[in-house]
Amino acid sequence: MSKNVVVLGIQWGDEGKGKIVDLLTDRCRAVVRFQGGHNAGHTLVIDGEKTVLHLVPSGILRPQVQCMIGNGVVVAPDALIKELEALEQAGESPRRRLTISPNCPVILPSHVALDQARERARGSKAIGTTGRGIGPAYEDKVARRGIRIGELSEPELCKERIQELLDYHNFLLERRFGEPATDPESVFEAVERWASEIQPMLGDVVTALGAIAGASGNVLFEGAQGTLLDIDQGTYPFVTSSNTTAGAAACGSGVGPLVFDDVVGVVKAYTTRVGGGPFPTELHDGIGARLAERGHEFGATTGRPRRCGWFDAVLTQRACQLNSVSSLCVTKLDVLDGVSELAICVGYRLGGTVLDELPWDARALEKVEPVYETLPGWQQSTEGIQTVKKLPDKARRYLDRLSELLQVPVEIISTGPDRNATMVLRDPFAP
Ligand code: GDP
Ligand code: IMO
Ligand code: MG
Repeated sequence: MSKNVVVLGIQWGDEGKGKIVDLLTDRCRAVVRFQGGHNAGHTLVIDGEKTVLHLVPSGILRPQVQCMIGNGVVVAPDALIKELEALEQAGESPRRRLTISPNCPVILPSHVALDQARERARGSKAIGTTGRGIGPAYEDKVARRGIRIGELSEPELCKERIQELLDYHNFLLERRFGEPATDPESVFEAVERWASEIQPMLGDVVTALGAIAGASGNVLFEGAQGTLLDIDQGTYPFVTSSNTTAGAAACGSGVGPLVFDDVVGVVKAYTTRVGGGPFPTELHDGIGARLAERGHEFGATTGRPRRCGWFDAVLTQRACQLNSVSSLCVTKLDVLDGVSELAICVGYRLGGTVLDELPWDARALEKVEPVYETLPGWQQSTEGIQTVKKLPDKARRYLDRLSELLQVPVEIISTGPDRNATMVLRDPFAP
């Protein structure tokens, strides 16, 4: 029996989704990205060799896997081409295994300029976006003035629509933000190139997924960002501009919501966040610095240092509910090795009272104080461990407690960046 499985992050991104997607695609016919864009940075390490993917699905290093970019993804053609060329230089042939929905909105250079101009204008209130034009591209999609990637196949028609859009963007750039305009000629030149490079990869993702379902093939739906960055349910306005939750896997790829058999919530054994916004369990002390150092917590896309803190069971519990998480994958357990005492946030206090409801507003979340319970840490190394029996008792106790708090079984455990440094207690694709 074939299975459809969603793999997504249930914190603020960078949970290790790329590693887990690559691992699980062993048994898959296809991997589909359904939201976000090249703001994502998904790291795969195979036999010590590292590959960072931004737009290309994390199944690309498995020769039998068809990779698809669904309609919910915003595509920056130059970034995609650069990524494909890097893969080609590494000896892969990604183009013939990649299908891009013609419905994907295009990120133009003026979207990038607007994203960065807005961030500068926000000053100390900046969101800390990746500056890749993601937000402005989604805005134009919703406003029904965006360019879809399928339109590039008709350059003349497309140029007329791009000119209109650039007039609007340049009005904002020059008059609202006092920034330089984007030159239409440079965009038109690029369009010709984009069209010839991208046209061969365009295809109807809905039909392709239907065919795989008909042939009983397994499909993995790969989330980007994380649940707490969801435009509706995240820590608004410090969020990304797409729905990052499981429902988006259906509308961002073109399948119905009944197709999913499992939702794997990937979660770090602690918490990190890049960019601005509330982070109740953030650590500003030596332990935070230690997690950042041991976990190499620098953004895979922008290289920015990630903020680090204790595991937050309040927010991740909510994330499990929002996504119908059926299985947990805990990553970076090894990073906690040697910490003498581990804290887990199990509640929030505001103005002296323990809250029984999660604040919906980022401003309130800024003010909460975490209520912690503590567990003893383990002093042995868990790095690279591949069998649960070899884990220190205290590490097992920590994982059991996470599972108990989130009321979801921990079924995958990761103890290092490499594909092999993993324990799979239940493979969601197992028949
Ligand atoms: P993604 O965006 O969710 O795919 O995650 P990123 O690739 O941005 O960040 C995760 C980082 O942690 C990458 O550098 C991975 O190689 C690394 N990583 C993944 N799992 C583990 C693990 O279990 N232990 C350690 N030490 N590193 C890990
Ligand atoms: P992966 O898929 C972590 C964050 C940015 C910023 C906010 C909005 O690798 O987990 P955007 O450029 O999307 O408008 O930025 O979202 N952000 C991420 N943080 N991992 C990511 O992707 C992210 N993609 C966006 O730092 O706070
Ligand atoms: Mg990442």
